[in-house]
Amino acid sequence: MSKAEIFVTGGAGYIGSHTCVELLEAGYSVTVIDNFSNSSAKSLDRVRKITGKDLRIIEGDIRDEALLNRLLSETAYAGVIHFAGLKAVSESNQVPLKYYDNNVCGSIALLRAMSRNEIKTFIFSSSATVYGEPQFLPVTESHVLAPNNPYGRSKLMIEEFARDLWQSDPSWSIVILRYFNPVGAHKSGLIGEDPRNVPSNLMPYLAQVAVGRLQTLTVHGNDFGTPDGTGIRDFIHVVDLARGHVKALQTLQTKPAMLILNLGTGTGYSVLQLREAFERTSQNPIPYQIGPRRQGDVAVSYADCALAAREIGWKAQYSMQDMCEDTWRWQYNNRSGFE
Ligand code: NAD
Ligand code: WQD
Repeated sequence: MSKAEIFVTGGAGYIGSHTCVELLEAGYSVTVIDNFSNSSAKSLDRVRKITGKDLRIIEGDIRDEALLNRLLSETAYAGVIHFAGLKAVSESNQVPLKYYDNNVCGSIALLRAMSRNEIKTFIFSSSATVYGEPQFLPVTESHVLAPNNPYGRSKLMIEEFARDLWQSDPSWSIVILRYFNPVGAHKSGLIGEDPRNVPSNLMPYLAQVAVGRLQTLTVHGNDFGTPDGTGIRDFIHVVDLARGHVKALQTLQTKPAMLILNLGTGTGYSVLQLREAFERTSQNPIPYQIGPRRQGDVAVSYADCALAAREIGWKAQYSMQDMCEDTWRWQYNNRSGFE
């Protein structure tokens, strides 16, 4: 398609870097702003290596509205994809104001700078966490919104700002994407998830046990009302997710809209099923022990993705096998992540 310029906040992070690859490969030009609070600029060097294309990198904080105003006035961006944010649920319970400041104040600064510069195409990284405890399955976009932690509430607030903005001025064009459980890595093995601390998410934990960085997986509860007693989630390959952003952008470029869409596969896997699949793929033992439930965890969550298929022509392509193989290639080739 076009040579349109896209402004990507948080583009050095896990999902952002994969999306930069897909944007560049779809012919877009990309400017990333990131403060590298949870990422390394090396991920973007790898994006250049994968695509053979350049992208512009600004080291900066999205709460710096003067910086955003300057950047957004210099270039006629065709849209903004907004990944920048803090995402650790347990940390958000301990330091909620840090989350509200970074995620909410950062998003307000961004939306204000966009508004001032007449850039009104916005794609936002929301999360299935806005649904809270599923009342029915699969979860549709019309499910009640009841996040049970400050991180989730920060996401819901930003969704509401975006909706209000569009209602006040329908020349805005907005897609809110609610991701389920992103996992996997680019096929090249050059970029992937690189948590700064001991991973709190299941897939990077499994990968680090398999590669020998961690000893034993603790399964957080085996007394949920599920076939094997462990939690069930909708794991989605990060490249599928990245392509969802490109589809959303292409849709907004042809047909202005205000859309809220789930991005998942529609299929749930349990913690023990994922452990077994990863052990098989890596051919390394992944010992585990059963621990207590983790506070706030729901038993089962998986998405109804029919709306994304209808509205932006997107459907997840990759299987659980792909998710495990690609995570393993990344982890095996980069034992200590980007460092
Ligand atoms: P990530 O931490 O890898 O990426 C976020 C990026 O934003 C990082 O590079 C970080 O340095 C940057 N950042 C954070 N605050 C910033 C600020 N104030 N200014 C500039 N840059 C800032 O996380 P990710 O997994 O790639 O997630 C991307 C987005 O998707 C986040 O908004 C997250 O909440 C959302 N999300 C993630 C998941 C998941 O499980 N990974 C699920 C649902 C939603
Ligand atoms: C999956 C399953 C755990 C680690 C979180 C956020 C959500 C979204 C995605 C950002 C659960 C179990 C995990 C471990 C385990 N992120 N588990 N041992 O909790 O579904 O979602 O990440 O938006 O907002 O809440 O993902 O990968 O942490 O857990 O048994 O060491 O694995 O109990 O059943 P979750 P997860």
